Amino acid sequence: MCGIVGYLGTKEAFPILIKGLHRLEYRGYDSAGVALVDKNGNLNVYKTKGKVANLEDYCRDKDISGTVGIAHTRWATHGEPSDKNAHPHFSQSKHIALIHNGIIENYLTIKSFLIEKGYKFQSETDTEVLVQLIEYVMQEHKLPLYEAVYQALTQVIGAYAIGVIEKDNPNILVTARTASPLIVGIGDGEFFLGSDASPIVEYTKNVIYPEDRQVIKIERGKEIEIRSLDKEELIKPEIKQIQLSLDDIEKGGFPHFMLKEIFEQPKSLSLCMNGRLQREQKEIILSGVRENIDKFAKAKRILITACGTSWHAGLIGKYLFETLCRIPVEVEVASEFRYRNPVVFKEDVLIAISQSGETADTLAAMELAKKQGAFIYGICNVVGSSVARLTDSGTYTHAGPEIGVASTKAFTTQVCVLAMTALAVAKELHTIKEEDYKRIVTELCNIEEKISTILKKTKEIEDISKIFTYARNFLYLGRGFNYPVAMEGALKLKEISYIHAEGYPAAEMKHGPIALIDEEMPIVVVAPHYDMYNKILSNVQEVKARKGRIIAIVTEGDVDIKKQADYTIEIPQTEECLSPLLTVIPLQLLSYYVAIAKGRNVDQPRNLAKSVTVE
Ligand code: AGP
Ligand code: GLU
Repeated sequence: MCGIVGYLGTKEAFPILIKGLHRLEYRGYDSAGVALVDKNGNLNVYKTKGKVANLEDYCRDKDISGTVGIAHTRWATHGEPSDKNAHPHFSQSKHIALIHNGIIENYLTIKSFLIEKGYKFQSETDTEVLVQLIEYVMQEHKLPLYEAVYQALTQVIGAYAIGVIEKDNPNILVTARTASPLIVGIGDGEFFLGSDASPIVEYTKNVIYPEDRQVIKIERGKEIEIRSLDKEELIKPEIKQIQLSLDDIEKGGFPHFMLKEIFEQPKSLSLCMNGRLQREQKEIILSGVRENIDKFAKAKRILITACGTSWHAGLIGKYLFETLCRIPVEVEVASEFRYRNPVVFKEDVLIAISQSGETADTLAAMELAKKQGAFIYGICNVVGSSVARLTDSGTYTHAGPEIGVASTKAFTTQVCVLAMTALAVAKELHTIKEEDYKRIVTELCNIEEKISTILKKTKEIEDISKIFTYARNFLYLGRGFNYPVAMEGALKLKEISYIHAEGYPAAEMKHGPIALIDEEMPIVVVAPHYDMYNKILSNVQEVKARKGRIIAIVTEGDVDIKKQADYTIEIPQTEECLSPLLTVIPLQLLSYYVAIAKGRNVDQPRNLAKSVTVE
């Protein structure tokens, strides 16, 4: 998600806020805005779609005075990027302004309640519900701002880091957090808010790290007040020192965005499943599927089109839909699909997958299928992107901004959405037994924790990586759900270490690639313990017989392949159809550490762009 900045002190707030937004731009943005109580006591809100520079241009002829203010760079989750959906959001009376980082899960319930009370909404966001609720509580219960924010948040479910200011009281700045990052900077007679320390570190190193469900009152000339939503008594602030440099901070303390994003995957998957995976009931509720189940029911087949890593996710989608829904699936790279004059039926469902939502070939493939009457379903990470706007329906991955060129958390959230979609369709079409559905959904509830288990093996994987920096070729082998994972592992290695690598169905090896194998050649085998285990064990033995050097990804407790492999990385057991969410993690880390050992520019590899918006 994006970023919040706040200031209350003796200096002019605007320059501090704008500089803070620039510091947070690395987190991705689609719009930006600022709110200030000016020298005449007006509460001004200025906000625009696009970069922070657009906001600066927009503010050139505005009254930007004031020593209290809040500012926001948005990564849209509800409501496409636009001026009206940008933050800050006004309350109905325009006496309060609020910024928010996160997702309000129960915003529709609160919105219906407020509409009944006569509130009108200016935006499509979940955030606006919060500022209106605060105003409603203030007016209904005659409460001052801080107490109203506190009471309002007791009704809210979701993730938030917020900043709130009030027209009639420029000495107060209220903030709070649950599940979204927030730091409060304590200066000399001045206070700062930031989604991380980057907007704060140049002014003060004294900070407070609020905990979840804490609501904080910042008042000019006074000590800050912290209360938890779970117990009303005051919490003593614990002031800490920022140790990191600015560059470190932008990467969250990680050396590269790619490693940060690999480690963000448990959280990204939680955000991806939020509001869709009902953990108590063990149900999946995907509005995009529920509202269009007739399209899936009458589909003769499902077409999946994408590029690169997203295409690999699509290949896993084939196994998911055919296994769970018994619907034939054809998967094709968009650049081929768009030019070969494909046969498309109006009963077809075409699923387009794209992290950026701007890949030219994918957009062209979608347009072609749409013209021929297919139903277009999108799986995308950028709200309001071209792919999102071209679809008839779809599901956002909510992975948060992916900065590293090599796609990691986007891939796992794409696979997660495909799994949830296939499960939801299978349930609606009764192609899955109830006990199988419940078992797989239950396993999906545990997947973040299992990924975290693998992320603890970083040192082990780094040590293995260093052994193979000599190699000029790698072969990646997998079967079934993990054949596309082998392809993805090979792409990760190629694009950041510049070592050639090929992903292959394991049984295909004897139809040619086996000629490549000698004692120098590393072979990565994705071999978790499922029905095809003995088949892939034979493939491993074939490689061993030719003195290939084997790195095997195996299920915890594996014996047979471990005997054959030179190196093994163990992963937890899970449902086979969900196993790509686990087997890909060691391959991401392997490619990262090989590239680091070779001194490569991991976040911006040569010749590559994050989004290929040209043919
Ligand atoms: C993946 O690591 C690459 N950066 C690239 O293959 C990427 O997946 C491809 O360009 C598709 O991008 P998209 O998902 O934004 O459409
Ligand atoms: N959910 C809010 C919105 O879509 C906030 C998104 C963010 O964290 O930037 O506006």
